[in-house]
Amino acid sequence: MLDARYCGTMNEFTCVVFISGTGSNLRAILEAIDTGALAGVRVAAVVSDVDAPGLAFAREWGIPAHVIPLADFPSRADWDRALATCTARYQPDLVVLAGFMRLLGHPMLEAFGGRIINTHPALLPAFPGAHGVRDALSYGVKVTGATVIEIDEGVDTGSIIDQRALTVLPGESEEDLHERIKVIEREMLVDVIARRSRNE
Ligand code: GRF
Repeated sequence: MLDARYCGTMNEFTCVVFISGTGSNLRAILEAIDTGALAGVRVAAVVSDVDAPGLAFAREWGIPAHVIPLADFPSRADWDRALATCTARYQPDLVVLAGFMRLLGHPMLEAFGGRIINTHPALLPAFPGAHGVRDALSYGVKVTGATVIEIDEGVDTGSIIDQRALTVLPGESEEDLHERIKVIEREMLVDVIARRSRNE
């Protein structure tokens, strides 16, 4: 009788993870795979637009990492196509934008539409864009949080898959608030991937 543990490609739910930063979300996904919280999930590759510190986790886990800088391409359209071509090699069930700080263009959406999720450190539709934590603090909100969306062509406009909230502490700095948001963000992202992998 076949033992699924020794058949690496049987029924695996394959993800390609995109990052631009420290990669704490990527690490949470990889640790959840190791502990069994994401049983049956595999990160086939990590893609970044910069030489991100978080790529160290790809190296640590022995996962192929691709740095694809926009500046290396004659046009944005060429870069968009390069991302899609690289990602397609891994035939992912899900593309996870885990702190990827650029918008994806049409080639990625055309190839993987409905299978690309993004995590954002604010309660969308409030405070979209690159500075969600700062913008929420500046506005003076008392509650903020994190959102996972299925992306579309807009800036953080896709349909909401899940959200987690927390209370802003009096006098809290952007950095401290972001670190607390990232804790709930990581848990939520792992939960969303687990549900997707079970087709829920
Ligand atoms: C996360 O808060 C993500 O929502 C935002 O950037 C942060 C990335 O963190 N876009 P990390 O690189 O996963 O540590």
